[in-house]
Amino acid sequence: MAWSFLLVASLFILGDIGVSHASFPPTIIVDMAKIIMDNYCSPEKLTGMKEAISAASSNTDVLKIPDAESLANVLSAGVQNTVSDPRLKVSFEPNYVPEVAPQMPPLPPEQLVAVLQTSIKLDILEGNIGYLRIDHILGEEAADKVGPLLLELVWNKILPTSALIFDLRYTGSGDATGIPYIVSYFTQAEPPIHIDSIYDRPSNTTTKLFSMSKLLGERYGVTKPLIILTSRNTKGIAEDIAYCLKNMRRATIVGEKTAGGSVKINKFKVSDTDFYITVPTAKCRSPITGSTWEVTGVTPNVEVVAEDALATAIKILKIRAQIPAIIEGTATLIADNYAFENIGADVATKLKVLQANGVYNMIVSKSDLEEKLSSDLQNLSGDKSLKTTSNAQSPPPMEYPPEVYIDLIKVSFTTEVFENNIGYLRFDMFGDFEEVKAIAQIIVEHVWNKVVNTDAMIVDLRNNIGGPTTAIAGFCSYFFDEDKEIVLDKLYDRSSGTTTELRTLPELTGARYGSKKSLIILTSGATAGAAEEFVYIMKKVGRAMIVGATTNGSSHPPKTFRVGETDIFIDIPTIHSDTIAGPAWEGAGVAPHIPVRAEDALEAAKGIFNKHFGGQK
Ligand SMILES: *[C@@H]1O[C@H](CO)[C@@H](O)[C@H](O)[C@H]1NC(C)=O
Ligand SMILES: *[C@@H]1O[C@H](CO)[C@@H](O)[C@H](O)[C@H]1NC(C)=O
Ligand SMILES: *[C@@H]1O[C@H](CO)[C@@H](O)[C@H](O)[C@H]1NC(C)=O
Repeated sequence: MAWSFLLVASLFILGDIGVSHASFPPTIIVDMAKIIMDNYCSPEKLTGMKEAISAASSNTDVLKIPDAESLANVLSAGVQNTVSDPRLKVSFEPNYVPEVAPQMPPLPPEQLVAVLQTSIKLDILEGNIGYLRIDHILGEEAADKVGPLLLELVWNKILPTSALIFDLRYTGSGDATGIPYIVSYFTQAEPPIHIDSIYDRPSNTTTKLFSMSKLLGERYGVTKPLIILTSRNTKGIAEDIAYCLKNMRRATIVGEKTAGGSVKINKFKVSDTDFYITVPTAKCRSPITGSTWEVTGVTPNVEVVAEDALATAIKILKIRAQIPAIIEGTATLIADNYAFENIGADVATKLKVLQANGVYNMIVSKSDLEEKLSSDLQNLSGDKSLKTTSNAQSPPPMEYPPEVYIDLIKVSFTTEVFENNIGYLRFDMFGDFEEVKAIAQIIVEHVWNKVVNTDAMIVDLRNNIGGPTTAIAGFCSYFFDEDKEIVLDKLYDRSSGTTTELRTLPELTGARYGSKKSLIILTSGATAGAAEEFVYIMKKVGRAMIVGATTNGSSHPPKTFRVGETDIFIDIPTIHSDTIAGPAWEGAGVAPHIPVRAEDALEAAKGIFNKHFGGQK
């Protein structure tokens, strides 16, 4: 129904062709439809076709189109729309000579060699990378005949390479029986893997393709890198091979999205006219994806224009070649330096297992590797501070004139005095002790003196992401008294194997807040690193009430290590708060005394103080 409608509509668009002499046999539409009915690969899409044919056969208006080319175009559009498949095509080709399946003639060996040499290109690139370009995929029969020769001339030269680039950018033809052969050279002998199912419409049969246990010659195996290059001209069987190996996660596809052809396509002569109809007669379905590359094409893992595909592949292989050493180096660094020795040893072992199990085999770039490695390190350790990092070393401390410091300090700290003489101090980062010491007088004058004479204080660390821990003892000391030294924390340093006590300082710049006045610290999930250490100490020694959300659960500031001579860098925490019971706050965060949403924490803290001080008046 739809079909005849479309044909008539197309005719209408072509304009009023008032010529009444029909120049084409009236049965042509019915004959064409019959070919489709009997051969099109997805018969389920042809429901209603029978009715459409009978309607069309009684409506021969379309045949009044005077020239054959236009008629072919109208008919093409008609069938494509009806079946919604762009691969169906009607053509008018008076000079068409049907292709004869190329028989492998019993050529003398020298000639066979010459034929193979023109259709197969082979090279060994720098770094022992094999390069193989095949422009036509041979079928089983041909492969049997030339197999020994292929083995000798091509395959045995590829086998000793350490990686292979398989160039299918120019491969537009092939025989489906060749698929298992090629795929199998990149799989294990056992067990056979179901790689594809091909339904053939004319014979109404489905063939399951399996990887083969027996092959001529040796396999390339399953671990050496394989990259397949594709272009928008990669078509048919070559697409099937790329799709199979991609979805088995055996090959990385680099290049352009492929043509989206058909596993099998045939051209039929329509009765005894010079019209031909091209029909996909078979279709395939991958048991891995439950889907197909037909019509849509194979999407590459790394999409680049076809001309750049080879260079991109070589770049990928260079990175892959470094991976074993990078993983080994990373594992050693972590085992030797990670703050928690047992966890470090465990992470190192498991990381090497991941590598041995091939989880880094499909890496396509340095950033891809960094991302994957980071997430695996964090996953294995449960420590979000153990990760890859760019080598953006923090710049050396700058010398500024005093006015600039004052401005910097003014934006770095926020102070306020609320009702009931409650002080408020917010800062979002801890500084290094030496740097802070140098400007301590300025901080005291412009920040600390604004809040030191209050009756209670709120220290807001909800946006404090940490920084160096060297100034923590000093900052803590302001909240204790001069005459009594307190042990704040013990820090274990893996690199020296020593434990250091963190104590309050006897001398400070400016006045102390002292140990008696109430203190509330505000926290959120973003409160991290040095800020968490401060919160942990003040909670542990009972000096502050913590209000807000559990802190981030990061770690003492990590050290950055370079992995061997590579440009991969790893952040490794090397110091931890020393508790017998395992990590103190690292990884888990510090839980507040009063849990409230971070955004409500300030109001909650003010409420607590106001109730207390307001009640006193
Ligand atoms: C194809 O074969 C199936 C059984 O395998 C059968 O049910 C179906 O009718 C056949 N279709 C045609 C068009 O012969
Ligand atoms: C680590 O990854 C594995 C698998 O990807 C997952 O099952 C496991 O839960 C992850 N572990 C953590 C701590 O995230
Ligand atoms: C913890 O800190 C990391 C790094 O800054 C951040 O990405 C993450 O969102 C924080 N977690 C929470 C719960 O805010």
